[in-house]
Amino acid sequence: MRDDPPFPTGFFDRADPGDDAGFYAAPRLVTHLDDGAIAAVGALYAELGTGGDVLDLMSSWVSHLPTRPRHLSVLGMNAGELAANPMADEVVVTDLNADPSLPFPDARFDAVLNCVSVDYLVRPVEVYAEVARVLRPGGVSVCTFSNRCFPTKAIRGWLAIDDAAHGQLVATYHRRAGGFDEPVVEQRLSGVRGDPLWAVWARRSG
Ligand SMILES: C[S@@+](CC[C@H](N)C(=O)[O-])C[C@H]1O[C@@H](n2cnc3c(N)ncnc32)[C@H](O)[C@@H]1O
Repeated sequence: MRDDPPFPTGFFDRADPGDDAGFYAAPRLVTHLDDGAIAAVGALYAELGTGGDVLDLMSSWVSHLPTRPRHLSVLGMNAGELAANPMADEVVVTDLNADPSLPFPDARFDAVLNCVSVDYLVRPVEVYAEVARVLRPGGVSVCTFSNRCFPTKAIRGWLAIDDAAHGQLVATYHRRAGGFDEPVVEQRLSGVRGDPLWAVWARRSG
C-alpha cells in the first residue's frame, strides 16, 4: 500500500455504524440499476474480458455478466441472494467491513468485479490490496456505480462528493492499494434517459 496522506477524519464513518450482518439479513432479490445500466455493465465486462475465473465482490443474485465465465465466485453478505445467483460456482458469505481479507489464494482470478457497492466499504484500500493479491498479472478489477445507494450504509465521504469525484475516489483506492496499472475512470452512461453509469477499472501490474 502507498504511503499517502490519510483520508479526512470521519470519511469512512456511516450514519448506521451497526453490524452489516443485521442490515443485509433479509434477501433483496431486486435490481439496483435500470435495464440500460445493467446492459452497459455487461457490455463493459465483455469489452474488458471476463470469461475466465471471476470474483464478483459484494455480490447478490445477479452478476450482470454477458456470458457465463469459466468459474464464478460470488462474495457478499446474504447467503440467500448469493445462492440464487444462476452463474455462481462458489459462494462466500463474509463481511468485508469486519475483515477485509479475501479467502482466496494469490493470483486466483482473471477479473474481480464490484457493481454498485464500493460506497459501502469502510476499509476499501485494504480490500483493494487484497483484490490486487488475488488477481493474476494482467487481470482486471472493474468497479461500476450509479447515483443510488442505501444512504445509511454508504460512507460519509461518498455522500459528500459528486459522481465525477466518486470515480476519482475509486481510482485513488486502487492507487493506494498498489499493484495496479494506472486506473481508467469513465462515465459510460450520461443519465439523461435513465440511470447514469460510471466505471473504474485497473489492470493488475506485472
Ligand atoms: C446494492 S447491493 C448490490 C448487489 C450486486 N452487486 C448488484 O449489482 O446488484 C449491495 C451488496 O453489497 C453487499 N455488501 C454490503 N456490505 C458488505 C460488506 N460489509 N461485506 C461484503 N458485502 C457487502 C451486500 O451483500 C449487497 O448484496
